[in-house]
Amino acid sequence: MNLSETFLQKAKDRTLVVGIVGLGYVGLPLAEAYVRENISVIGYDINPARADQLNSGQSGMKHIADDRVKTMVDKKLFRATANASDLKEADAILIAVPTPLDIHHQPDLSYVTNTCETLAKHLRAGQLIVLESTTYPGTTQEVMRPILETSGLVADKDFALAYSPEREDPGNPNFETSTIPKVVGADTEDARAMAKAAYDLIVQTVMVSNARTAEATKLVENIYRWINIAAVNEMKIIFEKMDIDIWEVIDAAKTKPFGFQAFYPGPGVGGHCIRIDPYYLSFKAREHGLSTHFIELAGDINTNMPRRIISRLLEELSLRKQKALAGSKVLLCGLAYKKNIDDMRESPSLELIHILKEHGAQVSYFDPFIPEIPETREHPEFAGMTSVHWSEEELKQFDAAIIATDHTNVDYDTLCSNIDLIVDTRNATQEIFESFSSKIVKA
Ligand SMILES: NC(=O)c1ccc[n+]([C@@H]2O[C@H](COP(=O)([O-])OP(=O)(O)OC[C@H]3O[C@@H](n4cnc5c(N)ncnc54)[C@H](O)[C@@H]3O)[C@@H](O)[C@H]2O)c1
Repeated sequence: MNLSETFLQKAKDRTLVVGIVGLGYVGLPLAEAYVRENISVIGYDINPARADQLNSGQSGMKHIADDRVKTMVDKKLFRATANASDLKEADAILIAVPTPLDIHHQPDLSYVTNTCETLAKHLRAGQLIVLESTTYPGTTQEVMRPILETSGLVADKDFALAYSPEREDPGNPNFETSTIPKVVGADTEDARAMAKAAYDLIVQTVMVSNARTAEATKLVENIYRWINIAAVNEMKIIFEKMDIDIWEVIDAAKTKPFGFQAFYPGPGVGGHCIRIDPYYLSFKAREHGLSTHFIELAGDINTNMPRRIISRLLEELSLRKQKALAGSKVLLCGLAYKKNIDDMRESPSLELIHILKEHGAQVSYFDPFIPEIPETREHPEFAGMTSVHWSEEELKQFDAAIIATDHTNVDYDTLCSNIDLIVDTRNATQEIFESFSSKIVKA
């Protein structure tokens, strides 16, 4: 019997059991997609509190309602565990653990390697292991395979190995896990067939010829965004000097039905993906003696944006109010890296707070999605800061506000009515701009 036979039969009978490692922004919706198709899921997370939280029907994420998790648990098709040996029951194990950068801006694959070390202790013949975490080409075969083979089982003979990048876009109302086509790559025919069968249960699959092509596909998608956002950030600075509103320009440009995709400027780039993934390719390119000029240049522009926003604030404070930043009270409106979610990983807002404090400003923040700043990798010193109470009285105390995230449930009218200087980095005040144009600086 070949490696894939039993697996493919189970997929056909829809009796396949799916194990998901890492129950965060990616892992939880993935589990939900399988449960919706009546496929049994064992979710494993290294954090026992996370497993307990999910088993008690709480999502722990603002953009995923608790009801959705309760439905999964009530159906008795989903169970979370912190016990890795439970994964023995799974036929396909899909891994969605973090892949951040270390302090030297190098890929930190420790979550992936730790996962593989754990899996190696419990691996059984016939299983399919798929990495979904974003990473550089070669990770599946060069990094994961040798660790998994310490189990004594051999890849492509005893178990199958594949890669399928996650394209989840948390908070996007138009797309979710099961409506975003999934790129899948593996190095053997058996592994490709098994991975395709596992994902065909929930989503349309796009097969590529090997794991490294799938790994590269994800990087290309995110580097494309990284570079285009940098280009538009640079154009914003140029057009500002020419008294041209970049947002109006983009709205006009995007009426072209072909050859143009809209990207928007902002206070910098945040999030666990776009801000990080390009450097995974830079790292791997160096191994081949090559440089990634576009990525580095875009990095210079994007990571300088927070300083640029603060220098605009500084200019306007001194021009309009004859005030210095030192001693001024500044409200940062929006901490999340993008609108309508509670994720603040790598958010430029943290850097904005840091620079403001560096200049001696008194900084507070408001974010309806983030009542308190948790411990973050980049700025642990801000942990415990809490969102200000939203009232006219409170707002009136501030000399200036910076809109760093354009959450839709923020009352920008009240913000602009009560604070004299608003630096809007997202065009969040577009609808009310005419009424408050003397107070708003688009930057
Ligand atoms: N968040 C997104 O929008 C998004 C989109 C596309 C791709 N990705 C990629 O998906 C991967 C996961 O990201 P995420 O946002 O879901 O992360 P996350 O931090 O929300 O979730 C990761 C989960 O993995 C758990 N974990 C960590 N180490 C573990 C281990 N050794 N064993 C088991 N569980 C472990 C953590 O406790 C956490 O619950 C990353 O590579 C990321 O780049 C994320």
